[in-house]
This record gives sequence, C-alpha cells and structure tokens, in this order.
Amino acid sequence: MTDIASFEQSPWSTAPSFAPLPAQVPYYLSAHYWWAYVHPRAVRVFERQWLVNLILWGNYPCLSESALDELGAELPGTTLQVACVYGDLTGRLCARAAAGGGRVDIVDVLPIQLANLRRKLAPQAPARLLPMNSADLGMPADSYDRALVFFLLHEQPRSVRQRTLAEVARVVKPGGKIVLIDYARPRWWNPLRYLWGPVLALLEPFALDLWRHDVAAWLPAACRRALRRRSFFGGLYQQLVISVRE
Ligand SMILES: C[S@@+](CC[C@H](N)C(=O)[O-])C[C@H]1O[C@@H](n2cnc3c(N)ncnc32)[C@H](O)[C@@H]1O
Repeated sequence: MTDIASFEQSPWSTAPSFAPLPAQVPYYLSAHYWWAYVHPRAVRVFERQWLVNLILWGNYPCLSESALDELGAELPGTTLQVACVYGDLTGRLCARAAAGGGRVDIVDVLPIQLANLRRKLAPQAPARLLPMNSADLGMPADSYDRALVFFLLHEQPRSVRQRTLAEVARVVKPGGKIVLIDYARPRWWNPLRYLWGPVLALLEPFALDLWRHDVAAWLPAACRRALRRRSFFGGLYQQLVISVRE
C-alpha cells in the first residue's frame, strides 16, 4: 500500500518524485517478530501506549520526548521516520512538522503497520507513508533534513542494520541530523542487566548485539566522527545524535 497519491494531492506537499516499490517482508520479521508486527492480532494487542511503555520499563515518554526535542520543537523541511512505532510518537512528530510547515515521510516494510499508522494519524497530518525496506530506501541521496530511527536497529540482523544505517546516512542532507534510540548494555549495577538480558535473548535474537557492540561500529565512517550520546535508565537505553557532515 502507499499513500503517495493522497500525499501528492495535499496542498502543502512538495513531494520529491520517486515511486516506492512494494517491499517484501524480510525473513527475520516473519521468523522472529511475527507475534509483534506481522500477525493481524499483533497490532490489536500491541497498539496500546501503556503496553509499549511497560515493555520499555516506563521510559516511552522520556525516550520519545528526548528524540523529539533533539529533532526540534518545530520541524520545517523534510523529516524521515524509519519504521513505524506503536504509540503516539509519529503523531507528535507530525505535529512538530506541521508547526514548522514541514512534512514527514514514514517508511515501513509491513503494509499492516503502515495501515495501523494511517488510522492513528490525524487526516491533516503532513505525513506520507511509504512501503520500503530501511536497508534499501528508494529516495535519492540528500532528500531529508533529519531522520529518526526509534528502536529499529536491535530488531535487525547485523548486515541489515549496517545497510539501514548506511541508507539513512545517504538520504539525510549534509548539515542534517540523525537521531537513533535503542537498547544498550546496562551498567554493572543495573539489575536489568541480569534480568532483561535472558528475555531479550529469548524474544529478540539480535538485540544483545547492541549490548556487546558500540552502534558506531556499524555507522559509515564519516558519521562516527560527529556523534553525541546520551544514556538512559542505568544504561539500558541510548540515544545517538549524528550530525551529517557538510
Ligand atoms: C521500529 S521497530 C520497533 C518499535 C518499538 N518496539 C515500538 O513499536 O514501540 C518496529 C517496526 O519496524 C519495522 N521494520 C522492521 N524491519 C524493517 C525494515 N527492514 N524496513 C522497514 N521497516 C522495518 C516493522 O515492520 C515494525 O513496524
């Protein structure tokens, strides 16, 4: 599914000209995340703000607010959100884009997730929903002023994660900003280091990669030099802000 037609008809739209291709469901989603994203019941179960907040140990408000504040109170120009997120994050992102006269593209590889997001967004939200694989974005280079990647990287096998980061760096303009929020290795004194590790190992087979390695290792070399980090909740979560070089 694509919203491209409705986007191009909207009065505020200055859409770049490219046609998204239908994306195929990656094997890791159907093998490991069918229960969370792919199955029709998954959306019915997980599209609850309190549940997502519970899974994040009560940190959804502070993590989403931190990412949005890092992007800006008003967002003129073009913003990319890589992958849908349960809860109200995208609605709040779109409100900031609307306040700045900007627009938001949201890509996701699952039509069911894009359809769910469409239902959540206000009809006038300046948003375009695009079926695309984050590892193979269809936009030309330097299309966006900024990009947000919220809890996607830990779900992806390493090679896909690396391609996603390369693609995001490619489509954000020089001088633009990339905000990444995801898991990280908790500090030694954080009990979740011992409690949550086995849960992630069981349910999210690629997540512990982010405990063992620095995300910077998968970034294109140019991005590694302009990186700012912030840690949350005893280190269990991290925010990386990348300034794309001019
Ligand atoms: C952003 S992640 C996790 C978000 C977080 N757990 C939440 O919902 O609060 C979930 C989304 O990533 C999408 N996704 C996973 N792999 C993708 C890929 N290669 N390309 C685009 N979207 C992808 C899934 O379809 C799903 O909608």
